[in-house]
Amino acid sequence: MRQFIDLGSGLPTADNVHQVAQQHDPASRVVYVDTDPQVLVHGRALLEENEGTRIVPVDVREPERIRTHPDTRKLIEFDRPVAVIFSAILHHVNDDEDPAAIVRYWRDHVPSGSYFFISHFRSGNNPETAEAEKVLQETFGRGRWRSDEEIAALLDGLELLDPGIVPAPLWRPDAVDSPFTGDGGRELTVWERLIAAGLARKP
Ligand SMILES: C[S@@+](CC[C@H](N)C(=O)[O-])C[C@H]1O[C@@H](n2cnc3c(N)ncnc32)[C@H](O)[C@@H]1O
Repeated sequence: MRQFIDLGSGLPTADNVHQVAQQHDPASRVVYVDTDPQVLVHGRALLEENEGTRIVPVDVREPERIRTHPDTRKLIEFDRPVAVIFSAILHHVNDDEDPAAIVRYWRDHVPSGSYFFISHFRSGNNPETAEAEKVLQETFGRGRWRSDEEIAALLDGLELLDPGIVPAPLWRPDAVDSPFTGDGGRELTVWERLIAAGLARKP
């Protein structure tokens, strides 16, 4: 993948998407999308490092405005595969705002061979996580945690790659030196099971 749209990109951190992608190919292009004023200030200072990255200040619930934004049009060629990243963003979108329609919009506007990454707070594990869910929803005044099945349903029409929607540390745990697999692998803690991750491909 050489072009990425990172929706709800958040505060810059170590190994931001363009830094990882451009290590592999300096020509990789990344559009970061967020609306939080703090994120935008830090993003403009730290993420717009070169001509291959821009931060687009548009609400993720308005995908058409994101896709047609001049910076997006400059960086992303929509006739070539795109990686669309929904990392810890769709749990901020209420059911009545139709998060599946947001994913569907991008699915319908990128070509075959595009990839969709999702990570999302998981609901219904146990009383401790139900408490965390309640606190977060009260803090933000919005959003919804979802079951793995509901998260998978957001990727309708896409081919969900192995191992499916799973707790994030179990997504390809063999790719890193994982403490959760093999002989002596330990159980995930409640907190390690809090976020699900998955990757899908547009057929
Ligand atoms: C939990 S952070 C995730 C950051 C990063 N993607 C990650 O995985 O670490 C969610 C981000 O989404 C942004 N956000 C929340 N609702 C949004 C919306 N409707 N439109 C655009 N950005 C939004 C917030 O400002 C925040 O930076």
